[in-house]
Amino acid sequence: MVESKFSKVDFSRYFQPPSLKAARRRRREKVHIINDFSIPDEMKGIGRNKKYLIETYGCQMNEHDTEVMAGILQEMGYSETAEIAEADVILINTCAIRENAENKVFGHIGYLKPLKRENPGLIIGVCGCMAQEETVVNRILHKYPQVDLIFGTHNIHRLPQLLQEALFSKEMVVEVWSKEGDIIENLPQARKGHFQAWVNIMYGCDKFCTYCIVPYTRGKERSRRPEEIIEEVRDLARQGYKEVTLLGQNVNAYGKDLKDLDHYGLGNLMDEIRKIGIPRVRFMTSHPKDFDDHLIEVLGKGGNLCEHIHLPVQSGNSDILKIMGRGYTRERYLDLFYKIKKAVPGASFTTDIIVGFPNETEAQFEDTLSLVRTCRFDGAYTFIYSPRAGTPAARMKDNIPMEVKKERLQRLNKLVNQLAEESNAKYQDQVVEVLVEGTSRKNADMLTGHTRTNKVVNFSGPESLIGQLVQVKVTETKMWSLDGEWQREPEVSQS
Ligand code: 5AD
Ligand code: SF4
Repeated sequence: MVESKFSKVDFSRYFQPPSLKAARRRRREKVHIINDFSIPDEMKGIGRNKKYLIETYGCQMNEHDTEVMAGILQEMGYSETAEIAEADVILINTCAIRENAENKVFGHIGYLKPLKRENPGLIIGVCGCMAQEETVVNRILHKYPQVDLIFGTHNIHRLPQLLQEALFSKEMVVEVWSKEGDIIENLPQARKGHFQAWVNIMYGCDKFCTYCIVPYTRGKERSRRPEEIIEEVRDLARQGYKEVTLLGQNVNAYGKDLKDLDHYGLGNLMDEIRKIGIPRVRFMTSHPKDFDDHLIEVLGKGGNLCEHIHLPVQSGNSDILKIMGRGYTRERYLDLFYKIKKAVPGASFTTDIIVGFPNETEAQFEDTLSLVRTCRFDGAYTFIYSPRAGTPAARMKDNIPMEVKKERLQRLNKLVNQLAEESNAKYQDQVVEVLVEGTSRKNADMLTGHTRTNKVVNFSGPESLIGQLVQVKVTETKMWSLDGEWQREPEVSQS
């Protein structure tokens, strides 16, 4: 039987208990750039002949954090396994954005309990956004004694020390900082791919949309120095990477906190990255309020800047947008949308939409449908509003029954699907550039990749094409993908 360690937890050992209230306070504390990450001598080689497995939930930011944790574990000698029963360290990198994401994680932690019986030396760690929530930490402390370690989004660089404590102490180790976070520059990264890479350009979010937990779990906006980012992209280009995606919760706020630079923003950064010899550059996620003209002008220069804009709208109704705290109206969103469309010919647009925000009326929901029809999005991530404890929206009374919200989601999805199909149909017989990412999950005989506009393309060809940019002629279009024929490069005659 697994012994409950809860009774032995010494709360005074916490640096600070995780607290949404504390996280809400934005202080003017200076962001420290820390460059001295190293593995303590006693932890070097501790993972020799041992295996780790990291399970990742949620957004690209989490995927990239997982790459960093994998890099740290590998520096300690651990190697990766895909077999859960083989693992000596299991880390669950969690997402807090909606309740169903959290429920999945709790279900999974429950499922890990028997593994602990078979391998008492196994370390189970919970990290990521859920670990920043006090309710989650309390629930784990009380109900999931199989967990050995909980650490937050600001403590990833302390993984070696935390693992050391977890390995040598009998207590559950909890370290979650409510502080707003620093920037740690020299962390190892075990990147998942060899031709596509995530590059963090900033951390945190100061937007505080009233429904969203991210500003609490990820801390305040802090931008990495442009020279560090540019060097990272240059290095990836030298290593032969074909595509980078610049990441941040609100990339359009990039640079606002770099007070010593004169109005240096995402436009300036992209203008410099544009000159680096890497074939494709993407960025996400954008916030319409901060999307400025300079960035639009730079995107219009094309080159390696891909023509795909993910521009979350959340709602097509100005009153709802106001209560959401989004800082723009329906009209301003549409103005921006058309401005970008004009400057970046052929661009594809995707968005995020929340239905069933507290008290959303039928007419307000229909405004969302009409905006989607107007913009003819190439795709949309659609969600039913999920109350997140500690956020302002969670305190609002809501008179909309769940059945109504579900029905609205269905109507919205029907429209989104129809528009996706129509937008893909326009690719019929076109020759598109595809970065070949691997074999198709559905059919191992087919290769799969994305166009610059982020459309999925499946086609047959030799596996040697994986990692290359190739030309494919679209022969059939579907709702969420295109089928095509690889356009073999003409042989160069040897005369
Ligand atoms: N409920 C539902 N969807 C949410 N999102 C963020 N917070 C919530 C919430 N509380 C959605 C937004 C955001 C995307 C990443 O997740 O659409 O853009
Ligand atoms: Fe959340 Fe709004 Fe920040 Fe996006 S911009 S992460 S929705 S608070």
